[in-house]
Formats: sequence, structure tokens, C-alpha cells
Amino acid sequence: MSDSTEKRILFTRLIPSGSDKRFADAGCKLDVPNSGVDEPMARDEFLRRIGGCHGVVSMLTDKWDAEAFDAAGPQLRIVANFAVGYNNIDLAEAERRGVLVSNTPEVLTEATADIAWALMMMAGRRLGEAERDVRAGRFGGWGPNDYLGVDLVGKTLGIIGAGRIGTATARRSLGWKMRILYMHPRENEELQNDLGAEHVDLKTILKQSDYLSIHVPLTPETRHLIGVNELSIMKPSSVLVNTARGPVIDEAALVEALKERWIFAAGLDVYEDEPALAPGLADLENVVLLPHLGSATAEARTRMAKIVADNILAAMEGTPPPNLVKQKPTQ
Ligand code: DGY
Repeated sequence: MSDSTEKRILFTRLIPSGSDKRFADAGCKLDVPNSGVDEPMARDEFLRRIGGCHGVVSMLTDKWDAEAFDAAGPQLRIVANFAVGYNNIDLAEAERRGVLVSNTPEVLTEATADIAWALMMMAGRRLGEAERDVRAGRFGGWGPNDYLGVDLVGKTLGIIGAGRIGTATARRSLGWKMRILYMHPRENEELQNDLGAEHVDLKTILKQSDYLSIHVPLTPETRHLIGVNELSIMKPSSVLVNTARGPVIDEAALVEALKERWIFAAGLDVYEDEPALAPGLADLENVVLLPHLGSATAEARTRMAKIVADNILAAMEGTPPPNLVKQKPTQ
């Protein structure tokens, strides 16, 4: 490829497996952060380095607004998000400028569903609190009243957002013989036929679930879907987990609900203002806090790396990227 046709691709952060060898074969010029620098790219550096790029491998921590698209310039063809979620990208701006947006669906579904279950078990059985006690030397021997949690077997599991990850989370319930409720814009026949799941509204799922797991994308409609009103009608013995996006839950309201025991416990992998936590959240024993690691298996992240390359290379060749995001997010 001559210099005039050379395509510049920026990686805003180093990713597992590095950059795909196919970029070099396709004659792309890569701009990759120095090895050893593993942190989100600062906004001013991001705005500077996206200038003149044809494709960007972007992290969910990079904000793509009008300012970013302006800084990138009119030659930008694709933003390939290294995530299934893409709430960091203003899709209307991208479409207005003819920039394609892709994500990494499917390859992280099972890894993330596993973390939803890990959080349910950790929060319901008080495992975070118990582990902290053992490490701190507070384990004084077995006690009949210690660490009493909430059963899972035979209980009701609510799934808010029955897309790929919500469905995979529900499927794991078979061994626990749970009743499944789900809230979703459409009926999920797979869940209904295979698990006898019931399609219900928000009020029903909040009132009847013993375990409630959130899997909706973040959109204007789902921001603060769970706030004071919703938390206050959940069962006092219920457990709420979130592996989707933090702002779906009003985190200040959750702190209040956990303190006042409106619900039994919560398990979070995502936060409203990541990486900051709402005041008081980290002081509570009845919440399990993970550092947004839903897709963090070596296998899933390697598959994600391949997918971003597939999408960027397709865009460079002028063929439709396989994981194009629709302009209006669907749930
Ligand atoms: C995603 O892909 O959207 C996840 O949140 C990343 O772990």
C-alpha cells in the first residue's frame, strides 16, 4: 500500500493478544500505546491521537461525542469498540458523519453470565464478608448463627433484559431448579420453551424475585431504571446484581436500600461513575464489589481482539463489518 492509501489505525489501549497480524498484511499503519502503559488514554491524548485515523480500536472508557468525531476528522471510517456495550459512543453523531460503529457480541456472553452467578452466590451467601473476616483473623471457628445467607434452590430468579447475556444467566439456573421471570421488550421464546420462564413487567419482577440480575444496555430509557421506588418494593430477603452498566441503578439509592435493609444484599461489577463508588457503598458489608471484570477471561478477551480486527479490516476493505451496531440500540 502506498502512503496515500495507507490506513491509520489507533489502539487506544493495549489489548490481549496484541494487534492482529492481519493489520500488517493489509498494509495498515498501527498506532499502539507503549508497552508497559496499561491505563485508559487521557482525553487530551485521545483527541490528539485519533486525528487522521481511519479506524480506532476503542475502549468503553473512551467517550465518542461530537468533539471526538471532530478531532478524528472526516476520513474516520470505523470505531470498533472493544466491548459489547457501546454507551460510550454517540451513535447519532457517528451516523451523521458516516462513521461505522462495531462491538464484540457473543464472545463474552458466557464469561459475563458466570460473573452474574458469582455475584449472586457471593452476595446471597455473604462470601465477600466471610472472606474478609478470614483474612483479617476474625474467623473464630464454626458458629450456628454465622453468615446466614439466602438459599438459591427453588427460588425465583428475575432477569431484567433477556438478550444474550440475560438468557445465558437464566440458563445456568437449571441446576438450582429456579422459577424464572424476565422483563424484556419482546417475548423470549427460548426462555419460555426451555425454562418455562414467564414474561412479566417491572413491578412484578421487582416484587417477586428473590435474585434479580440486570442485563439491559444503558440507554436514556434504562438510566436509573432501578431507583428508590423500585428498591423499596423488592423483598427484604432479595439480592440484586448488576453486570450490565452502572447507571442502570441509582447508586445513591442502592446505598440507602442496603443500609436500611430494604433488600438483603447486592453484587456489582459496574458502577454509576466508574471507577468512583457512591459515598458509603464500600463501607457496607452486604454488597460485593467487583472491578468491571465480566468479560475478563483470557479466552473471551482474545476472541474480542479478533472481532475488533475483523470489523476494522472489513471497514478498510469497504465491506460491511460483521458486528455493526444499529443506530438505535435494541435490548
Ligand atoms: C462489555 O463488553 O460491554 C463489558 O462491559 C466489558 O467487560
